[in-house]
Amino acid sequence: MSARSYRFTHAITRRPAGSIVQGLRAVDTGAPSLALMSQHHADYVAVLRSTGASVVELDALEAYPDSVFVEDTALCLPEGAVVMRPGAPSRLGEAGEMAPHLRALYGEVTMVTGSGSFIEGGDILTTETEVLVGRSARTNTAGIAELRGLVTPWGHKVREVFTPPGVLHFKTDCSLLDEETILSTARLDASGCFEGYRVIHTAAGEEACANSIRFNDLVLMPAGFARTRDVLVKAGYAVREIGNSECAKLDGGMSCLSLRFTPSS
Ligand code: GLY
Repeated sequence: MSARSYRFTHAITRRPAGSIVQGLRAVDTGAPSLALMSQHHADYVAVLRSTGASVVELDALEAYPDSVFVEDTALCLPEGAVVMRPGAPSRLGEAGEMAPHLRALYGEVTMVTGSGSFIEGGDILTTETEVLVGRSARTNTAGIAELRGLVTPWGHKVREVFTPPGVLHFKTDCSLLDEETILSTARLDASGCFEGYRVIHTAAGEEACANSIRFNDLVLMPAGFARTRDVLVKAGYAVREIGNSECAKLDGGMSCLSLRFTPSS
């Protein structure tokens, strides 16, 4: 197996903007601190770079409070990138802001364009064999159908799955750990969507760390979830914990903060 679902030469991140205090959130637990979020963000970028990857750090975009969560703007595959159409109206313009940066690095960049199509990268989990897309409040059937039409010619199989009620994105509740292993909350795994994969559950009460990422040799996970961390370390993963207290106030985690890819040409 080539491990192309978690081995990457590049990542794109975007610095948080002062407007982050207006970022979308399901439950208001207080305004995030820009200073602390920026510190956590710098730690995150440093860990990505420590694996040898080239990380493009884009400037903050004040007009888009949630723009630090770049993952929602695109799906990056080995053959090309697909620019998303975010389902949150305040985030729709973020995708167009990302497109030129992808075109600068990628041979082929396509776009989801249908006026009734909505899809965000946070709802997409790419494994070694398929692209799982969770229908959610941000991603609809039309968006998934359009994505399927764009990536099937590249040889990818898209499977529509479901995001648990009340959960922002499909990947809020899961992460890829290696070719065959998924970290998942028990509630998402109960849907049966990971049949055929080896699944490691987040510890009870630690569901908020399901949004982690495997990036080259490392697993980046939010700090503060010791029982799940210990399970991952015991399973042989090289774990790095990153402060996520401020992004968590906006329902964000490790995957949301980067686009990860190996440009096709
Ligand atoms: N705050 C991240 C989002 O709702 O998209």
